[in-house]
Order: sequence, then structure tokens, then C-alpha cells
Amino acid sequence: GFVIGTAVAGGGHHLEQDYPDPFTHDNEYRKVLGREFSSVSPENQMKWDYIHPERDRYDFGQADAIVEFARRNHQVVRGHTLLWHSQNPAWLEQGDFTKAELRDILREHITTVVGRYRGRIQQWDVANEIFDDQGNLRTQDNIWIRELGPGIVADAFRWAHKADPKAKLFFNDFNVESVNAKSDAYYALVKDLRAQRVPVHGFSVQGHLSTRYGFPGDLADNLRRFDALGLETAVTELDVRMDVPEGSLPTPAQEKQQAEYYQRMLEGCLEVDGCNSFTIWGFTDKYSWVPVFFQGEGFATVMTDDFTRKPAYYAVRDTL
Ligand code: XIL
Repeated sequence: GFVIGTAVAGGGHHLEQDYPDPFTHDNEYRKVLGREFSSVSPENQMKWDYIHPERDRYDFGQADAIVEFARRNHQVVRGHTLLWHSQNPAWLEQGDFTKAELRDILREHITTVVGRYRGRIQQWDVANEIFDDQGNLRTQDNIWIRELGPGIVADAFRWAHKADPKAKLFFNDFNVESVNAKSDAYYALVKDLRAQRVPVHGFSVQGHLSTRYGFPGDLADNLRRFDALGLETAVTELDVRMDVPEGSLPTPAQEKQQAEYYQRMLEGCLEVDGCNSFTIWGFTDKYSWVPVFFQGEGFATVMTDDFTRKPAYYAVRDTL
């Protein structure tokens, strides 16, 4: 039941505009994707700005294609994501809606998207990044929480559950690998929601790590406390970026350190009973979001631009 996944590149802000979609245009990419992984996550193709570009129009093309690719390759799918402060379309963020309208918009979106893939999504990231690093709810930049209050989060889980009763419904975030203010906030919230019988089934840590900040050594302890609440846990977006001067390549020592981070993340997950899903955020540096989003950092995935396996690839493989 343990699955190893990757994000499926496409639709991101980091690929050049009009860049041919790797998933549809890069044969080598597709081959590796079908061969090496048992789970896939659309990197952008199920996000609001992509799948719901206008109020009355959905664009399911790429999401459908990924779900179909997964079926043919006997892979499970992680759905990503339904309630988030980022990558929302302008019609939504800048629209002039009443609270009742906004609530209807969210319910309709969740019902439509989750319903479309009913029975085909193993885990849904229902709520993504709803706390800041201090453990405060994002009451300013998250449109749903700002306009509708924190109770909307529970409603999102209820609507998703109704639309696909078998999908496991997750909270997902970054900087929650350790026991810290932010993961404490999730722990308290999840406990509260479970006591109210809200259908929350999982807590996942993204794992966007950097060798600048060190390894979150208490990963297993952190996951275990969610496990003890009866939740599944997962690693959903692992990559390990590092500082490499422009025009240079990582040194062997850097690649070794990166491999250790990948290995320790996987070991941490394997140590916890309910951690059954381990996903890396892309498998080749060729399409990684990292160099565009983090100045001076890069080389964060397990394969080079030309799909050569790095030490990190072997570290993951040999840990399984
Ligand atoms: C990133 C994608 O990789 C990029 O292509 C996109 O331009 C921005 O978002 N946390 C998440 C992911 O939950 O959805 C983000 O993905 C990375 C951080």
C-alpha cells in the first residue's frame, strides 16, 4: 500500500509562457513518469486558476489527461488543491461577491471538481497552507477565511466528502515537518474538527527543504502525533534545493547531502504506520519550479535536466 509519487509538471508560472507542456510533449518525461512512480499529483492542473478560469467555465483537459494516464499506468492520484490563498483566478480574487455568493462559488467548485474524479483520487489536499509560520490562520490573504470566517474550512471538507466519500481528505502545508508553532496549530485544529466529526482524514507535510536551513530531524515524532489522532500522514512535495553559483553544478558533497535529506525524509515517513504516500515535487531539474522561485538555489530534484539519476534517486530507491 505504500506509494511513491511525483508532481506532474505543467501549467506552472515557472515554465516559459507557451512552453509546450512536458506531460504532453516530452516523451522521455512521460516514459519516466509512467515507469518510476505509483502516485501522481498534478503540479498546477487542478488549481483554481487552471481548472476554473472563468466563473462559468471549467477547463478539465489536462487534469482529465493526468487522471487517465494514471489509470493506464496503475497509479493513484493526489488531488491538489481546493481551498488555498494562492493561484486563484482574478475573477474570483477581484470579483465583487456577497458572502452568500462566495460560499456558493466554493461549494459549487468543490462539488464539481471532486465529483468529476469521484473514485479516482486517493487523497485530496482539501485545504492548503491555511496557517502562516507563526501558526495564525491566514485571515488576510486567504479569501475564503477572510470573507467567510474559519468555519469555511470545515465546510470545504464536508462538501468534498459528500462529492467523493472514498477520497481521503487532507490538510497540506510547508514548514510543518517539525514540531513547531505551525504544526501545533494544525494539531489543535484537526483535533477540534475530528471531535466535531468533520471528515478530515490526513495531515501532510510538503517537504520543500533547503540545505541552507538544515534537516527537520523530528519529522517522525511530528507525524506520529497526528497518527495517534487517527489520521493518515504523507509527504507530498519533497524537493531539496541548494546554493549553487550561477553557471556551476553542485559538488559531489552537495549531492551527497541532498541524497541524505531525501533518504531521511523517506525513513521518517516509513517509521510512521499511517504514512503511506511519499511524493516528490517533480523528478527532473529540467522542469523544477525551484530556480525560478528561490534565487540562487536549484538542482532540487532526483534527476538532472537530461534525466540522469542523481545520488538522491538511488538513496530513495535503496531505502525502500
Ligand atoms: C508551485 C508549482 O510548482 C509552480 O509551478 C507554480 O507556479 C507555483 O506553485 N506549495 C504548493 C504547491 O502547495 O502547489 C506549489 O507549487 C509549491 C508550494
